[in-house]
Amino acid sequence: MTNVSNPVLAVRGLSKSFGGVHAVADVNFFLDAGELLALIGPNGAGKTTCFNMLNGQLPPDAGSVKLQGRELVGMTPRQVWRLGVGRTFQITATFASMTVRENVQMALISHHKRIRALWRRTGDHYADEALALLDRVGMAEQAERACGVLAYGDLKRVELAVALANEPQLLLMDEPTAGMAPQERIDLMALTAGIVRERSISVLFTEHDMDVVFAHSDRVMVLNRGELVAEGSPAAVRADPLVQEIYLGAGSTFGSDEQPAATTTADAAAGGTHA
Ligand SMILES: Nc1ncnc2c1ncn2[C@@H]1O[C@H](COP(=O)(O)OP(=O)(O)O)[C@@H](O)[C@H]1O
Ligand SMILES: [Mg+2]
Repeated sequence: MTNVSNPVLAVRGLSKSFGGVHAVADVNFFLDAGELLALIGPNGAGKTTCFNMLNGQLPPDAGSVKLQGRELVGMTPRQVWRLGVGRTFQITATFASMTVRENVQMALISHHKRIRALWRRTGDHYADEALALLDRVGMAEQAERACGVLAYGDLKRVELAVALANEPQLLLMDEPTAGMAPQERIDLMALTAGIVRERSISVLFTEHDMDVVFAHSDRVMVLNRGELVAEGSPAAVRADPLVQEIYLGAGSTFGSDEQPAATTTADAAAGGTHA
């Protein structure tokens, strides 16, 4: 485990059972400022359960989740969000009938708590800020379109802008690229990684595309049957025989989808593979 003196997130002894299933069993980890930490593991390993406990959606059976020393266990998702923990890409965060720009403006207004009791028009409030955020995610040209008509990948980028409007310290991203085509996945994660690095936002993400994981994480943790079984740099985790066994056993590999399962995994994803 990396030693971090003042972590953004400190998780200790986090556990959750459903009936007899230990979905998350005594999970401990730290997340440093500006760090991109990947949580990987086969289906059913407990990744989503872990995320749900971090953002207040699910009460843990035991354990502690501290954001800059502040205990989050017991808080509502709204309270956790207010403290600067964003959760992107899982629940659609946009309003289909509003434009791209209005969606981001809404988020900015909400963040700055100037929302009026009866919201009618966003008008000029935070219009420039909204456009700046949209420009950063490559959506400025579509600012006046309704979110409901956007292509899926574009909607994801608007959701990223909406999350950024809250100025999060920490972004939780559970399978952010689910449902996207391979190149779109790579592009969205490259965009996200670039933005969070320039803003020193910490990120915890899960992702089943190993090319994406190894290209964009500083550190990787491996969850299996609710327990953390490996943790380290992408290269170290990729080379770990136990991790390879878990993945091969689950029928997936660290290479691209085209690779046969028996291929040695270590060098397939080395160096990021995608130009
Ligand atoms: N609400 C729930 N009720 C009962 N069992 C659940 C519930 N949520 C998750 N589980 C079980 O907990 C385990 C971990 O699930 P999950 O956290 O969704 O894994 P992952 O996200 O890694 O695929 C699985 O065995 C799953 O069936
Ligand atoms: Mg999941």
